Amino acid sequence: MDAELHNLHDQLAHADRVSLMGQLASTLAHELSQPLGSILRNSEAADLFLRRDVPDVDELQEILFDIRKDSQRAGDVIQQMRAMLKHHEFHPQELLMTELMDDVTALLGAEASARRVQLEFDVNLGRAVTFGDPVQLQQVLLNLLLNAMDSVGELPVENRKVTVRAQRHAKSELEVTVIDSGPGIAPERFDSLFKPFFTTKPGGLGIGLSISRTIVEAHGGRIWAENNTGTGAKFQFSLPLVRETGPA
Ligand SMILES: Nc1ncnc2c1ncn2[C@@H]1O[C@H](COP(=O)(O)OP(=O)(O)OP(=O)(O)O)[C@@H](O)[C@H]1O
Ligand SMILES: [Mg+2]
Repeated sequence: MDAELHNLHDQLAHADRVSLMGQLASTLAHELSQPLGSILRNSEAADLFLRRDVPDVDELQEILFDIRKDSQRAGDVIQQMRAMLKHHEFHPQELLMTELMDDVTALLGAEASARRVQLEFDVNLGRAVTFGDPVQLQQVLLNLLLNAMDSVGELPVENRKVTVRAQRHAKSELEVTVIDSGPGIAPERFDSLFKPFFTTKPGGLGIGLSISRTIVEAHGGRIWAENNTGTGAKFQFSLPLVRETGPA
């Protein structure tokens, strides 16, 4: 590894540790304080109810139900964070982006056909090399693809389409775009999309995009969203190009 690359390696490792850990810690604190607060309030309320001459059993049952629900929610958040931290160790290396994309396709091919989504790849990266952590970058691509597949889930089967495009951009960047045929993004939501815990899905945690942004920025790239001119949305990220040609 030459000096410049070594330096980049150190910078990335540091930026990643600081930003990912910082973000995880603050979102964890933020997200846990709400269910814990309502568990406290509910148990205080239950205590008051029990002091009545004739305690209202239905009311108490409702309170217990809420407490269980909040505790479940807190548990889910912790479990999700744990799963992410497992992959936290940062192993940046030179990567052939094409290979990384092949791995993701292999991971998601079965999922796409189970959901009856037409998944198309238009990858023109040749042997372009970037520098980063393959597990984390795969995670970004997976998050975007899963979101895209979610977005077309309600459409008639023949309209469920997701396209992944990858190409070099300018001299020093490569760009990956995930395009879907879903409903697109309402204008007032653009500001919230990448914020931790913003979700419009019943079972969603709302962390896929915020984690993706942290990862991409730690790699010296950018990530953003747009609506297509026709239907659907388009999520795009760029990464620095280290070299034009990697090993054959
Ligand atoms: N391709 C898309 N089309 C339309 N809206 C989208 C798309 N991708 C993301 N969104 C919106 O952004 C929100 C946040 O996405 P994000 O991936 O962060 O969380 P999520 O998918 O809701 O939950 P999870 O934590 O499981 O990923 C989604 O709930 C959805 O409202
Ligand atoms: Mg998601």
